[in-house]
Amino acid sequence: GVERYYHFDEVDSTNRFAKEVSNAVVFSESQSSGRGRLGRRWESERGGVYMSLSLNMTIPVSEIPKVTLLSGLAVCRALEDYGARIKWPNDVLVGGKKVSGILSEFVGEEMAAKVVVGIGVNVRNRVPDALRDRAISLHEVDENVRITEIFTRICEQLSNLLSAFPQKWGEILEEWKRLSDTIGREVRVSLYGEEVVGKAVDVDADGGLIVVSGEGRRKVISGECFYTNY
Ligand code: BTN
Repeated sequence: GVERYYHFDEVDSTNRFAKEVSNAVVFSESQSSGRGRLGRRWESERGGVYMSLSLNMTIPVSEIPKVTLLSGLAVCRALEDYGARIKWPNDVLVGGKKVSGILSEFVGEEMAAKVVVGIGVNVRNRVPDALRDRAISLHEVDENVRITEIFTRICEQLSNLLSAFPQKWGEILEEWKRLSDTIGREVRVSLYGEEVVGKAVDVDADGGLIVVSGEGRRKVISGECFYTNY
């Protein structure tokens, strides 16, 4: 479980810091070089939630995607009042727009790993103009939203779900699927130049997205997912 809590006014990246500590929650008011998935940058102006969870876990590397999915569910639960949904693998959407992203990283060896889950949520920060059609900040739908309350709710839900993991993985996955915005949609998933196009029909027991097309059924374990039918 979590033993330490770090609070920064500013840090380069809470994920970078979290890799150097153990069993900790790291929160920062802002980040000077916030990181996103697939080598991207994560805008980290004051007003958002920038947090990372660093946990020593004795699980096989193949289980990491489950922890990532679980974290998306924790954020989705925390944002329940806003009708949040999850876009595979772990973007959280409000009103169809991205409000939160998760970057999980893994340090160490098989069965003696440190899992770092980094969560960014747009709360009172302004979304850059270039992203306004795809991204949203919670204050746009709730002018009274508070950063600390969102952070606290995420911590509570992470704690609830992690204490049920891995024993109750089946139930966690079922809840994830109920809150999924992706299952049932036409998608294009790309990972390092490789593309899979078809209908997303399921997420399997290890968190992979099942995509069906004329060519058959394929499982995608990671990547970027685009909706192609709107
Ligand atoms: C994504 O690309 O959608 C994932 C974004 C993850 C951003 C969070 S903010 C806190 C943590 N520290 C980082 O540098 N990145 C993650």
